Amino acid sequence: MDFDSYLKAKCGLIEKRLDELVPEKDVPYNQLFHAARYALMGNAKRLRPLLTLATTETLGGSSETALSSACALEMIHTYSLIHDDLPCMDNDDFRRGKPSLHRAFPEGHALLTGDYLLTYAFEVIIKDPHLFPEQKVALIDLLAKNSGGEGMIGGQVMDLEAAGKQIDMERLSYIHRCKTGAIITTAIAFGGVIANASTATMQILQHFGENLGLAFQIIDDVIDVTACEQKHGKAISSDYANHKTTYVTLLGLEKAQQMAKILLLQALQHLQQLSADITLLAGIADRLVHRKI
Ligand code: IPE
Ligand code: IPE
Ligand code: MG
Ligand code: MG
Ligand code: MG
Repeated sequence: MDFDSYLKAKCGLIEKRLDELVPEKDVPYNQLFHAARYALMGNAKRLRPLLTLATTETLGGSSETALSSACALEMIHTYSLIHDDLPCMDNDDFRRGKPSLHRAFPEGHALLTGDYLLTYAFEVIIKDPHLFPEQKVALIDLLAKNSGGEGMIGGQVMDLEAAGKQIDMERLSYIHRCKTGAIITTAIAFGGVIANASTATMQILQHFGENLGLAFQIIDDVIDVTACEQKHGKAISSDYANHKTTYVTLLGLEKAQQMAKILLLQALQHLQQLSADITLLAGIADRLVHRKI
């Protein structure tokens, strides 16, 4: 199977499992599930679950075992996007090719749908019949730490507080590593846990993830400036409108792109230390840094 077909097939599996995990429900609060499906099912890259599946496979594990945990990560990521778009945060009206959740549903519903996806993600891992109890504990530990105050949430708080202020490269890199890098690193570490990787392998995965995660957010900053909204599927020039310092405002477009490529090379150098066939992970990493949307 060629690389594109592989990615397409895996995205299909991820979307099918998401569909099964979050069905419509005939309950008085059915709008919650309707809204969750609206947010989850848009035109998304599924990068984080893809990284989990690919890491698991790279280390000799089965991606079927990893599928529900991979979807739990996509739920956390989707919740972060729902809240990120709210008027009290980036105030963006367009996401995954359609109106943001708080534009399609009442704002309170959007807030609560984010809360639901966050909590439900942990339930999905706990209930996964494919995983051993020790694996569930390790996954929950990773997810709680990296999506919480020391990870994504901490990053989002710093991102909000930096709006309208001049910040330097060191601070910006710290924000990006927390708000985006932490979840990307978690996606890769999930694969390690599911494939029962050694401590040494987990360390390599961590370094690979950290470099890749920062590169990914730098390219997100670039795309905020270069993409057209229709292709992009989300609001453009959001960073400019919100007076955010980005790699583009600090370095200019070309140097920001160069920086992402350097980080990709560093990520790949770490990956090469694995005693496994890294073609798949290297291919995904390359796509993610050379993407246009
Ligand atoms: C957008 O993530 C938010 C960031 C952390 C940069 P993606 O670019 O992966 O968004 P989707 O999942 O494809 O919609
Ligand atoms: C968001 O960063 C990071 C999250 C944790 C959601 P951005 O605010 O740059 O993401 P986009 O550009 O809205 O997708
Ligand atoms: Mg934001
Ligand atoms: Mg945003
Ligand atoms: Mg952005």
